[in-house]
Amino acid sequence: MNKRALGDTGIMVSPLGLGTVKFGRNEQVKYPRPFQIPGDVEVVNLLSQASELGINLLDTAPAYGSSQARLGQLLPGPRERWVLVSKVGEFFENGVSRFDFSFDTTVQVVEHSLRTLNMDYLDLVLIHSDGDDLAILEQEGALDALRVLKQRGLIRAHGMSSKTPDGGLRTVQEMDVVMATCNPDYLEDIPVLEAAAAANRGVLIKKGLQSGHVAGPEGVAAAMEFVFSQPGVSSMIIGTINPEHLEHNVKIFDSVVK
Ligand SMILES: NC(=O)c1ccc[n+]([C@@H]2O[C@H](COP(=O)([O-])OP(=O)(O)OC[C@H]3O[C@@H](n4cnc5c(N)ncnc54)[C@H](OP(=O)(O)O)[C@@H]3O)[C@@H](O)[C@H]2O)c1
Repeated sequence: MNKRALGDTGIMVSPLGLGTVKFGRNEQVKYPRPFQIPGDVEVVNLLSQASELGINLLDTAPAYGSSQARLGQLLPGPRERWVLVSKVGEFFENGVSRFDFSFDTTVQVVEHSLRTLNMDYLDLVLIHSDGDDLAILEQEGALDALRVLKQRGLIRAHGMSSKTPDGGLRTVQEMDVVMATCNPDYLEDIPVLEAAAAANRGVLIKKGLQSGHVAGPEGVAAAMEFVFSQPGVSSMIIGTINPEHLEHNVKIFDSVVK
């Protein structure tokens, strides 16, 4: 897999990234089957396998339970090998999400994430939207806070994991990267991808496999072919804790996308 530019950030990412929700949280998730959170050896093996397969992009968040802490303890190899994406705005505590997009909280969350991940910079921090994308960008302090954190060198790039097409389009105007939903059953964000391509912004795709609701290997291949036929896609973040799926996904990418 050849690395792709993440817009104009100067960051190069593998076209498949690894989502790490399932490393740390198995409550209140929308996956088709219940699952056990993997043990330390399984996580290390999965990360090593990902690296050997050419994956350098890892997506985590404070709202993903113990995901950040586990990456902080278990990430193999030198820091520079990885592109670490984390988020701000959502907290998941006692089985419930709450949101805070204020300036001060945003700064505190990034500083806390750095300590938890045992790192001195994050490659990308995304605003973890609660669905009210435009209000967050226009009325809250998170965007300004991320700009300040970028100036301070604590993050290399900023963006939003948007939940509405209008929010995605505003993100493209204001920020370095948009994380958008794209799969054959969800076409609403395609104008966001087109705008991001035109503006040379980074594009990360979430839920490309419909959070696991695709039908078998043919469904995975069709979803990947669909996602990578869209303009401007830097990387498709696939969440998996299954080493066979990880290997299979890279093979499918190589055969259907190249
Ligand atoms: N910011 C946000 O608001 C937001 C929201 C959702 C997601 N995300 C990010 O985007 C990532 C991806 O989204 P997602 O996890 O919701 O959905 P996804 O990547 O579309 O689907 C993940 C599911 O697909 C399954 N899967 C993976 N490869 C497979 C294969 N070859 N065959 C069959 N099943 C396969 C996984 O199960 P196995 O573990 O069994 O492989 C997992 O349950 C997340 O991990 C997260 O990092 C962000």
